Amino acid sequence: MKQVSPGFFPSITIENDSSTPIYRQVYNWFRVAIVTGRLRPGQRVPSSRQLASELSVSRTTILGAIQQLSAEGYMESSAGSGTFITKSIPDQVTRFVASDSQPSIQRARRDGLRRVSKSAANLLSLQTPPLALAHRIGIGAFRIGLPALDHFPISIWSRLVNRHWRQPKKELMTYGDPMGYLPCRQAIAEYLAVVRGVRCEASQVMIVSGSQQGLAISARVLLDSGDSLWAEEPGYLGGLRVFTAAGCRLVPIPVDNEGLDVKTGIKSRPEARAAFITPSHQFPLGMTMSVARRMLLLDWAARKGSWIFEDDHDSEYRFATRPIGSLQGLDVDGRVIYVGTFSKILFPSLRIGYLVLPNDLVPAFSLVRFATDIFPSTLDQVVLTDFIREGHLARHIRRMRTIYMDRHEILIREIRKQIGTSVEIVSSNAGIHLVLLLPAGVQDTIVSDRAAGAGVATVPLSICYQGTAPKNGLILGYGGVNQKQIQDGVRRLHAVIRDTKS
Ligand SMILES: Cc1ncc(COP(=O)(O)O)c(C=O)c1O
Repeated sequence: MKQVSPGFFPSITIENDSSTPIYRQVYNWFRVAIVTGRLRPGQRVPSSRQLASELSVSRTTILGAIQQLSAEGYMESSAGSGTFITKSIPDQVTRFVASDSQPSIQRARRDGLRRVSKSAANLLSLQTPPLALAHRIGIGAFRIGLPALDHFPISIWSRLVNRHWRQPKKELMTYGDPMGYLPCRQAIAEYLAVVRGVRCEASQVMIVSGSQQGLAISARVLLDSGDSLWAEEPGYLGGLRVFTAAGCRLVPIPVDNEGLDVKTGIKSRPEARAAFITPSHQFPLGMTMSVARRMLLLDWAARKGSWIFEDDHDSEYRFATRPIGSLQGLDVDGRVIYVGTFSKILFPSLRIGYLVLPNDLVPAFSLVRFATDIFPSTLDQVVLTDFIREGHLARHIRRMRTIYMDRHEILIREIRKQIGTSVEIVSSNAGIHLVLLLPAGVQDTIVSDRAAGAGVATVPLSICYQGTAPKNGLILGYGGVNQKQIQDGVRRLHAVIRDTKS
């Protein structure tokens, strides 16, 4: 008999002071667990001895219940192997398993009794979320946000994992600080000071599970439902989802070649509680915020007591110029929450990012973190600390910069060679994606859907706008694709654009 691993068995509940006999309670528990699908057909039932001991009842009581269940066809025994939930439980018995089509669920939905929270409803109503999410998952041309996984120094990483986890210290296995593992925060603070001009001590660094969680925690600490927030137009959908989930009113503020148009922000919603921006490398268009705009934004934030969430997602990769310093480095009033990530410089599934907080906000962030997931997982932080301290990170970034520069060049060359000048390339010589503006009249969501059908992932530019997009385009990630994949991806994309045009 094929056996389902006994694995975990749901705990059985009985009430000693109930008027229902114990054997009947055990019988009832099994019956409900079987018809509702909690116990699966073929699943092994713990031995009567084990059940009797766990429930502190006599074995005869358990055997009575099992006999009854067997007689009714819910269980079957196999000599020498034990007792199992019957494999062939009739459909009409298991029809009680909750499903969307169940009339009671449909009725409850109609009566508004299955509604989700307002913030989840807001998220669900956001423009085409499944589409944008789908483009993030998987590998290949032209997934956005994907670094060169084929060049990640996995042997070094594995060696560091082994170093710590062959015989882990007990301190690494217990609860940790909500702010994160201190040596890791120290290493990140040093790295940020040198590379990004961020002014901070390790005590201000909070390790988070990617910038996404960093923004979510920031929103919980600093914003209330109904607060207004300036958002770049177009902007980073991932971040906008966080603030939508927090119940914020997003105020789209246009960007031009100097970044966020701060004057328009001040004119349209001067009392906004916060601004969410990507000043070093605007997502998705790639401009750098000018110093004049930075100073204006900081001044506005200081006067109004508003917060600035600075998402510094891929500043390490600039091909023609030196990296631009962070906005946080110019902030003397403690208005900037700096958000960074290792998703693009290492790999996204690592889920390590960081926040740099003004000192006085550290207690509030720590407490909210404690109420969220208590503290970040320690293993990867320990490994990352050594990776940074032993110079592997700096080496990796240097190597990746050259690789991305090549891939960026190859992509532009292939677009020009294969598609020609009917499309316009918006690139800032930085990062791991560029934007391809489509010929007039060609809708990016249609091209993107069809391209996905042809095995090419792209993000339609228009979904990064809250209002109407002035131009249709595609965001193409090139970090995670080699020359051959780029050539092949452009060829397929060209065919889709051509067919969509005609
Ligand atoms: C603008 C921007 N911010 C942040 C991230 C990274 O998010 P996370 O650290 O949550 O993986 C990305 C990834 O694509 C991004 O494009």
